Amino acid sequence: MKQWTPEEKRRVYKDTDYQELKLLHEEVSRSKWRTQYHVQTVTGLMNDPNGFSRWNGKWHLFYQWFPYGGVHGTKHWYHVTSEDLVSWKNIGCAMIPDHYEDNSGCYSGSAYPTDDALYLAYTGNCRDKDYVRHPFQLLAKMDKEGNITKQAEPLIKPQEGYTEHQRDPKIFRHLGYYYILLGAQDENKKGKLLLFRSQDIEEGWYLYGELKVRGFEDFGYMVECPDLEKIGNQWVLLFSPQGLEPEGNNFQNKFNNVYMVGKMDFDNLEFIPESPMTELDRGFDFYAAQCAFQKEYSSAGVLIAWFGVADYSYPPADDEGWAGLQTMPRELTIKNNRLIQKPVRAIGKLKGDTLLRVSDGRIIEDKTLGRTPSACIIDVENPKYESVSLNLFAGSIEKGFEISYNKNSKDFYIDKSGMRIQTNTDFGTRRTVHLDNGLKSMQIFVDHSTVEIFLNEGEYVLSSRIFPTADEHLLRMSGKDININIYQANKTVEQDFVI
Ligand code: FRU
Repeated sequence: MKQWTPEEKRRVYKDTDYQELKLLHEEVSRSKWRTQYHVQTVTGLMNDPNGFSRWNGKWHLFYQWFPYGGVHGTKHWYHVTSEDLVSWKNIGCAMIPDHYEDNSGCYSGSAYPTDDALYLAYTGNCRDKDYVRHPFQLLAKMDKEGNITKQAEPLIKPQEGYTEHQRDPKIFRHLGYYYILLGAQDENKKGKLLLFRSQDIEEGWYLYGELKVRGFEDFGYMVECPDLEKIGNQWVLLFSPQGLEPEGNNFQNKFNNVYMVGKMDFDNLEFIPESPMTELDRGFDFYAAQCAFQKEYSSAGVLIAWFGVADYSYPPADDEGWAGLQTMPRELTIKNNRLIQKPVRAIGKLKGDTLLRVSDGRIIEDKTLGRTPSACIIDVENPKYESVSLNLFAGSIEKGFEISYNKNSKDFYIDKSGMRIQTNTDFGTRRTVHLDNGLKSMQIFVDHSTVEIFLNEGEYVLSSRIFPTADEHLLRMSGKDININIYQANKTVEQDFVI
């Protein structure tokens, strides 16, 4: 396993590194765990989604990127675009840390589209000569030719009363003001949400105050990647709190990503929840979600997240020079104060040939040869709410990745303990969700090293990374009166080398 020196982690992209990264990309492309319909890092490490937006006729997504290997080094922004949120194209490196205020990384941020520019608000991770951190909130502007210019003057300087942890601006507009919602840690080491505002996007920003959340005092020791999204006539507050304790089946991952549905009182700086604090995803690997700035999906949000968790490690990072994917984007609506999360509307484009059909529990057609296809979509209907189980990537006796619903307890679980390669097991190998109304349907998306499971048309989603070895390839299924269709998945994400 490679040991990274501080100098190696501090590298910033230069044109003369092109050939080195091209070779790394070739090595990375040979990895058996690369995916075919997820946005994944071009080389090195990817983490949070940034600047997710619809602008100038396309979807734009940027991601946190360290080019040189699967380690958290100095962060750059990499840019990808899509017409439909299913097919994605690599555009190239968007921002490198080349100003004093972002000299140790262009950290996470968001986008604000206008007629002729896409504004990008982000955190400059600035370190002085003594390596002390000073977080600045910065602005850049992308024109229609894709040229990005950073504004010299920061929007927001480091705030007194808070530690060095002030970051991840989410920019939006409401009733005549621009707002930035920021994650922060106060001097008592408590996670806080700060709201800034201005009448001009480029200047005049001031701290409007801490955003209170009625009935909630404790968001752990830090809040990362906050977001505030209006869906229909309700608001959704999303964030990634660090330091929450597990509660029963909830908050089992090292760091979790949560939401609350409610009302937003801008005058009194208060969010009034109408739902509990709820995890966005119930799988093993999901963090730093961001909603797109968009008007395309009227009355619905669109969300994407890092398919990983901070401080976790994944085998390709050590073995193959890369780490990090984005989840599939999801469409968000609200029903009875709960978020419903579905695959995006164009998801049908992913479906290729039918590989298996099971009707009322009987096999009608089977081209799988008993194997789990490396990239496929599995649609399961369970009209009689029976117990169901699937084992993906099982060995001859090993259980593989287990997906199971028990009709008596109404518990649904995923379990990765039957896989040869297990990751981050300190946080458990099973995740359980109790389904009050039983399991009616599920849609499972498998993509080489990922499994995303949508239960009951978006009532819950569970996202997990898996690393099947060559001899883990069997597929087992059981369920009375069940209907299953398995489709080959198309390749929709380009993996070309563009910097
Ligand atoms: C979340 C995060 C952000 C930060 C970024 C740095 O994963 O820690 O708070 O801006 O990653 O890459």
